[in-house]
Amino acid sequence: MNPIKVGLLGLGVVGGGTWKVLNQNADEIARRAGRRIEVVAVAVRDVAKAKALVGDQVQITTDGMEIVRNPEIDVVVELVGGESLAKDWVMEAIAQGKHVVTANKALLATHGNAIFAAAQEKNVMVAFEAAVAGGIPIIKAMREGLTANRIQWVAGIINGTTNFILSEMRSRGLSFADALADAQRLGYAEADPTFDIEGVDAAHKLSLLSSLAFGVPVQFSKAHIEGITTLSAEDIAHAERLGYTVKLLGITRSRENGIELRVHPTLVPSSSMLANVQGAMNAVMVHGDAVGSTVYYGAGAGELPTASAVVADLVDVARLLTADHDHRVPYLAFQQDAMADIPV
Ligand code: NDP
Ligand code: HSE
Repeated sequence: MNPIKVGLLGLGVVGGGTWKVLNQNADEIARRAGRRIEVVAVAVRDVAKAKALVGDQVQITTDGMEIVRNPEIDVVVELVGGESLAKDWVMEAIAQGKHVVTANKALLATHGNAIFAAAQEKNVMVAFEAAVAGGIPIIKAMREGLTANRIQWVAGIINGTTNFILSEMRSRGLSFADALADAQRLGYAEADPTFDIEGVDAAHKLSLLSSLAFGVPVQFSKAHIEGITTLSAEDIAHAERLGYTVKLLGITRSRENGIELRVHPTLVPSSSMLANVQGAMNAVMVHGDAVGSTVYYGAGAGELPTASAVVADLVDVARLLTADHDHRVPYLAFQQDAMADIPV
């Protein structure tokens, strides 16, 4: 069977990791996907740097539109980040009838409703496992494993950078600025780290989880957001003396009069599971009426963990493309059973 042809928009931390995982585990991935997955083109700013990684056999361009309009490409993987260029490229890919994989929670939190509606119209998949909690397969857990449940609440640590900063301030006494610089060096932070430290990135992710949990449109604009920039080392030490640890939590809950959607620093008992989530690890708790409470833990950011989630989505797309067309299950982003805007 012919390989699935992939166009990669972005070859930075996550794009570079995706390239590596696709190559280092190529045989296993091909066996699981039913065919080989081959990157045939990449879009970057720095062509020479990209060439050093992917060599001469892959087309390298600075114009992502060339990739999304290339009829030979089956799947577009958007790992550029940001909201404007990424939106143009993703919308055009969908218009061209291509499946899309993206790790871009900022894009989906702000333009997801339009993107998912366009994808539904064209009957293509927009897969976004890597957009929430890095390598943890939380989207698949919620869409598949918990599909029998009415979800009552979702809560957890869903930003690796802030968890890393709080952990380093607490355990090693690092300053906020030094811990943030380390998070940037390690590839955890967003291109604009304000999104991390002000809680915006966590709110982007929370609004996606909330949509999945409650079958409603993405409502990022209604989230209550507080970050960690006003916390001092003394606040953290004082909480510690009282038996608490400061964590940036995202919480979404279904209430009688609407949906709660909030991100803020929270005091959690130091003996609790969440208090012991260290570094860039994430932990997401989901409570369903049938299953009760479940917990998902793992690397929430970084090159290879995030690439693991991107490649899992690519395998899903490959399986879909390999399936007999008449037996494809439509891939809806959310259970669109309550599309009315609901109070948050
Ligand atoms: P990087 O900044 O490391 O990589 C961005 C890539 O996009 C680079 O290859 C860059 O090219 C390319 N790019 C940027 N602008 C343009 C442009 N105008 N034209 C062509 N190419 C361009 O970002 P990350 O890999 O960290 O993040 C990518 C996405 O993944 C973001 O949406 C982010 O939120 C998300 N994400 C990141 C995680 C992480 O741990 N880092 C985890 C989960 C999601 P060049 O290499 O030439 O500079
Ligand atoms: N900047 C994000 C974080 C990357 O630190 O969690 C993973 O989404």
